[in-house]
Amino acid sequence: MSSFQKIKLAIILCTCGGVLEEKIDFNELKNLAASFPETVEVLKFHDFCKEPEKKLAHLKGKINGLIIGGCSERSSLSLNEDRIKKLLNFLEIDTAFFETVNLREQCAFIHSDPIETTKKALDLLLMAYEKLKINLGALVVKDIKKEVLIIGGGVAGLSCAQSLSDLGVNVTLIEEKPYIGGHAVEIPLLWQGEGSPSVCASDCVLPVIGRDTLIKDNINLLTNSRILDIIKNNGNFQVKIEKRSLKVDPQKCIGCGKCVEVCPEEIPSELDLGLKTRKAIDKPFRLAMPDTYHILEEACTKCGECVKVCPTDAINLDAKNEIIEKEFGGIVLATGFKGYDMNVFENLGYKFPNVVTMLEFERLWANRFKGKPPISIAFVLCQKDEVGYCSRLCCLATLKHAVRLSMAYLGTEVNVFYKSLRACGRAFEEFKKEAEIKGVGFLQEEVEKIEEGEDGFLKIITNQGEYEADLVVLAEPLVPSEMRILKMLGVETDQYGFPIEFQPRVVRPLETYVERVFVVGTAKGFKDVQESIESGAAGALKIYNALKGTEKKYFSITDIEKCSKCGICISVCPHGAIKLSKDEIKIDPTFCRGCGLCYSTCPSNAIKLINLEEFQIMKMVENAFKHLSKDKPRILAFLCYWCSYGAGDLMGIYREKVPENFRSIRVRCSASVSLDLIMEIISQDLVDGILIAGCPVKNCHHLWGNYIQDRRFTLFNKVLKEMGFEGKIVRWEYVGITMWKELAKIIRSMNESLSKVK
Ligand code: FES
Repeated sequence: MSSFQKIKLAIILCTCGGVLEEKIDFNELKNLAASFPETVEVLKFHDFCKEPEKKLAHLKGKINGLIIGGCSERSSLSLNEDRIKKLLNFLEIDTAFFETVNLREQCAFIHSDPIETTKKALDLLLMAYEKLKINLGALVVKDIKKEVLIIGGGVAGLSCAQSLSDLGVNVTLIEEKPYIGGHAVEIPLLWQGEGSPSVCASDCVLPVIGRDTLIKDNINLLTNSRILDIIKNNGNFQVKIEKRSLKVDPQKCIGCGKCVEVCPEEIPSELDLGLKTRKAIDKPFRLAMPDTYHILEEACTKCGECVKVCPTDAINLDAKNEIIEKEFGGIVLATGFKGYDMNVFENLGYKFPNVVTMLEFERLWANRFKGKPPISIAFVLCQKDEVGYCSRLCCLATLKHAVRLSMAYLGTEVNVFYKSLRACGRAFEEFKKEAEIKGVGFLQEEVEKIEEGEDGFLKIITNQGEYEADLVVLAEPLVPSEMRILKMLGVETDQYGFPIEFQPRVVRPLETYVERVFVVGTAKGFKDVQESIESGAAGALKIYNALKGTEKKYFSITDIEKCSKCGICISVCPHGAIKLSKDEIKIDPTFCRGCGLCYSTCPSNAIKLINLEEFQIMKMVENAFKHLSKDKPRILAFLCYWCSYGAGDLMGIYREKVPENFRSIRVRCSASVSLDLIMEIISQDLVDGILIAGCPVKNCHHLWGNYIQDRRFTLFNKVLKEMGFEGKIVRWEYVGITMWKELAKIIRSMNESLSKVK
């Protein structure tokens, strides 16, 4: 429905068991509601939250708009936004033609005087009505492809693919390497974290995980492939993939290995860091999955010997790379991690051949130290100061190695140099004790330098002494592996490069700021193999739900005529919803989360926030103080959708009293309130005091909206005084939900100051 259609409105007034009637005259409210020309029916209940569908069943098909006056849809435990959506669905009413009147938490519960409280209730009803009348319809995002792209064939990606496949979703799993398994294939013994301290052979579990993935008909595995481009379009992602040819057809290859026998080109194995060699046609390791050989193009001389012996004609030396273009409804980032470049730490001697990283050590041991086990190994932990965080896995991996080394190589001395050992989890203490019993030395000393000594030994110089070892293992910090794709998608990252999850993170884990883009496994933060698998499965359920589509009441659109193409909107959008396309700035509303940052920042006024446009807010402001006596200061608060409005509701829940001349408007983000709007309200003398409140520092649900607003209003207040609006107060505050007492204090202090000049 558009606002041009005739609105047929039902207005529900709920007394909350009669409690609200102690402060509000519901007869006056009813009369006002009945006076609106669009009103079809006004109904009063004492318990509307109980079975509302039953109560309104007779109105189904007769109304297309609904206003509910009662508890707060933000904070009600019974009739909250999600419950109301269900009701609107039942009544077949567009969510944009619903408005709420917060008669409980931000009216009857926070005020004392029944006459003034009733006046406020009348104003709140007017505000809701005036806004609803000029709302446009909601945007229904429904054409989401039921196809998911998973980027990264490590254990998290595989687990996510399997779970999605079980849910009936088609999956394309893309992996840059010719085999799946990720870092887990480099690690022969995988830590089994939570049970009794034990390890599990990757040669055993990885083929099982791989097999369980490859068997699924609705998983399309593309190995040796990479993403070239991703374009967001109308709720979906158009992805261009380069599938580099293996030169061996996996459908024909039976893995007999005859080709390897005849291949004359021998090169160092990439997986085994040159400790072994491989042929130009080979598998990187015997149990690599998919079970097929492939040719390393850079090593192949095209002699054709392999072609001659292949019994199934599986080899084609001239096979070309393929470009695949496909549309997906969702993307899962399972891109894993990589080791930090240890050359940065010149003092730690990574340039010496017998100084290796932890991941390299895994391969060294997998190859039995080339038959020459070390006499003395030193593990050097913790370069977290350099990267700024703890990589979490190094201490655990070291314990694993220390225990197993002392069992497998009885003559090898093992020492661990550490700053602080962070072995958490219920099995790890036990593991550490075991290591100590087996004679592993734990030295809490700072390694200052590693130098080459005599007879192939290394000198380890610490702040407390000097030691020797013939192999040093450096625990390399782990860092995110993929920035290129994050940039393509417009996924915002933290200062370390990890994708930031949507606020509130505690209840929306794995969800990035870009709709239908999820992050699982170590791409999100460090996990062991078991935790990565859990994370992949959890991500599957989340993305499955996201593919169902959604209805958006608030979203931004651009007026191309007015747009000067300055691009500021692109830089402030935290959701990757705006792009420059064919010399035009385009907002894709299907990716827009309706925060309004773009609209309030646009210098050309070329962006509209649908259903909360400036003229709609002005309409609400014009009606906000209609019933208030002229001698009282008019205090209006713009409270952000998530935190500050919640604090306003908590004032009511905890019965904190504030003056009745306070009204609030719930905005999408504090930064969606533009300076132009505030200037207009002040110039028209519609309000005496304005409070704009947003989420606390680091908590804006649109990443940086609160910081933008803080900066804007610090400047604005200076200008305001110079312009001669002396009697007005415009105040910006960070107000988190638990800061309801502070919010009440702010309102009372504004009232006090303004009352003096009124
Ligand atoms: Fe609260 Fe941005 S969402 S300030």
